[in-house]
Amino acid sequence: MKRILVTGACGQVGSELVPALCDRYGAHNVIATGHRTKPGQELLDSAAFYYIDCTDIKCIEEIIKQHNIGTIYHLASILSAKAEANPQLAWNVNVGGLYNILEAAREHHCSVFTPSTIGVFGLSTPQDNTPQVTIQRPNTMYGVSKVTGELLCDYYYHKYGMDTRGVRWPGLISYVTPPGGGTTDYAVEIFYEAIKHRKYPNCFIKEGTYMDMMYMPDALKSAIDIMEADSEKLNHRNAYNVTAMSFAPEDVAKEIKKHIPDFYIDYKVDPVRQAIAESWPNKMDDTAARLDWGWQPQYDLPAMAVDMLNKLSAWLKI
Ligand code: SER
Repeated sequence: MKRILVTGACGQVGSELVPALCDRYGAHNVIATGHRTKPGQELLDSAAFYYIDCTDIKCIEEIIKQHNIGTIYHLASILSAKAEANPQLAWNVNVGGLYNILEAAREHHCSVFTPSTIGVFGLSTPQDNTPQVTIQRPNTMYGVSKVTGELLCDYYYHKYGMDTRGVRWPGLISYVTPPGGGTTDYAVEIFYEAIKHRKYPNCFIKEGTYMDMMYMPDALKSAIDIMEADSEKLNHRNAYNVTAMSFAPEDVAKEIKKHIPDFYIDYKVDPVRQAIAESWPNKMDDTAARLDWGWQPQYDLPAMAVDMLNKLSAWLKI
């Protein structure tokens, strides 16, 4: 088989997607790449690793040619809060990087998976049961760059017949590699603080703010499932809504309290991230993904919380 290239392999998703792809397709078929972050030992043990810069098309083309790449999981991206702090960088990486990947993939006949996000929606989008096809007028650079990405991937599919696919991921919760610079990161931070200090006094998102969330094993499953789905059945190739749960900070705190009874939460709201959160859906409708390619998450809030507490405690050796 032709090999699989993963960009952003040292990030929150990449560090777990690479071993999952190695398990499924064989380690010799997976090439992991990152930009600056040093790869962890688990990643280095699972696949070949190279440094590349997605804003430089030449190094993307070289790696595709050298390793006979047929599929690209393009994960390299700047998340929402970091993108607001540095919008120029976000545009260069999220749009320029994706454009280079698509161009190189067109030239070398590769399929491309690109994650999109709940960040592609904005204040004018229906916030409850947000439909698959709806208003997308985000007011963040992250959202603007990701809507552009969805449209670019659609364009390459229609214009060149390329096999581009993608999902709109919600906030992702995991323990192997922390997220960096996102708005939904509180839902990861809360578990670290609960295990280490039995309290989370500085929750930067306000009580009552609902957002879609997903546990990492489901996120990995969604990426692999959509890439293996029957192409004929994909009515919305790029950017299927996928979700597993929707909660506000007090809901996850209550769930943690079931396992750590003296845990408590308090709030120190960050106005930038709060405004971003309020512009995103409370809960997306992911019926299209369920119907077209059988999307079915395995973890709801209680199942995620118990697994996360167990795995993260073991990971932190606490
Ligand atoms: N987790 C992302 C963020 O908060 C949303 O896609 O930026």
